Amino acid sequence: MAESLITCRGVDKKFATKGGVVDVLHDINFHIPRGSLTIIFGPSGSGKTTLMNVISGLEPPSKGNLIIDGHDLYSMDADRRSHFRAQTMGIVHQQNYWIKSLNVLENVAIPLYLGGKDRKSARLIATESLDRVGMKDFAERLPTVLSGGQQQRVSMARALAAGKELILADEPTGNLDSKSGDMIINLLLSIQKDLKRTVVLVTHNIEYLPLSDKQLYVHDGYLAEATKGEKMPEEILNSLKSQIESLTQMQGGRG
Ligand SMILES: Nc1ncnc2c1ncn2[C@@H]1O[C@H](COP(=O)(O)OP(=O)(O)OP(=O)(O)O)[C@@H](O)[C@H]1O
Ligand SMILES: [Mg+2]
Repeated sequence: MAESLITCRGVDKKFATKGGVVDVLHDINFHIPRGSLTIIFGPSGSGKTTLMNVISGLEPPSKGNLIIDGHDLYSMDADRRSHFRAQTMGIVHQQNYWIKSLNVLENVAIPLYLGGKDRKSARLIATESLDRVGMKDFAERLPTVLSGGQQQRVSMARALAAGKELILADEPTGNLDSKSGDMIINLLLSIQKDLKRTVVLVTHNIEYLPLSDKQLYVHDGYLAEATKGEKMPEEILNSLKSQIESLTQMQGGRG
C-alpha cells in the first residue's frame, strides 16, 4: 500500500454556539495515500467542509490528531501551522477570492511572491501554471470579468503554481454547469496523475466517485470509507441516491 500523506486519528469536532454545543464530527479516522485522488462526499450539512477545514489546518479538532507528511498539524503553534500550510497545500475554494485590482497572472503569482520568488521567476511559473489549465491567453485580464468555470481554472492554476504536494478542493464544481464541472474534474485528475500530487476533493456529484482511488462518505458527522475496486455498502449508496436526488431538485429550484 502507498505511504500515507494524511492520517486522521480519532477526530471529534464540536462548535460552541449561543444555542449550545453543536457536535459536528465524531471519531473520524482515515488515511490518504500519497499521490491518490480522494473524494469526500455526503449530504449537505453532514460535515464535509468542517472536515476539509480540519485537514487544511484551519479548524483545530476538539479531539484527535491530524498528521500530514509526518507532522502533527495541531501540535504546531498557529504561526508554524500557517507556514506549513503555505508550503504544503494548494487550496481551491467554491467561491473565488481575488485581488480585484490585479490581473489573472498577478493573482496566480501572489503565493509565489509570498514564498520568496523574485518577480521574473514567479511570473514565469504562474504563466506555466495558467497554460496547464488552458488560461494562458487570459493572463492580462482581470479575474472578475471571467466566467465561473474560467475563474475556477485560474484558481486551480494558483493552487498548483507553488508546487505544493497536496491540493484540496471543496466543491470546485458546485457553481458550474456540468461541462465546466467535468473540465475542472479532468484537470484535477491530470494534476494527480501527471504532476503526481495528492488531491482531496469534496463533491456532491456521485458521477465522479469512480474516478477516485478512495471515497470518504460523511453522514451526520460519521465516516464510512471505500477504496477503488471496493464497493460502498449498499445501504449507504441507497441513502445517497435519494439524498442526491433531493439535492438536485433543491438546486434546480434555486437556479
Ligand atoms: N462555526 C460553526 N459553528 C457552529 N456550527 C457550525 C460551524 N461550522 C459548521 N457548523 C455546522 O456543522 C454542520 C456541518 O457543516 P459543514 O459546512 O461542514 O457541512 P457540509 O457537509 O460541508 O455541507 P454543504 O454540502 O452544504 O457544504 C452544519 O450543521 C453546520 O451548521
Ligand atoms: Mg460544504
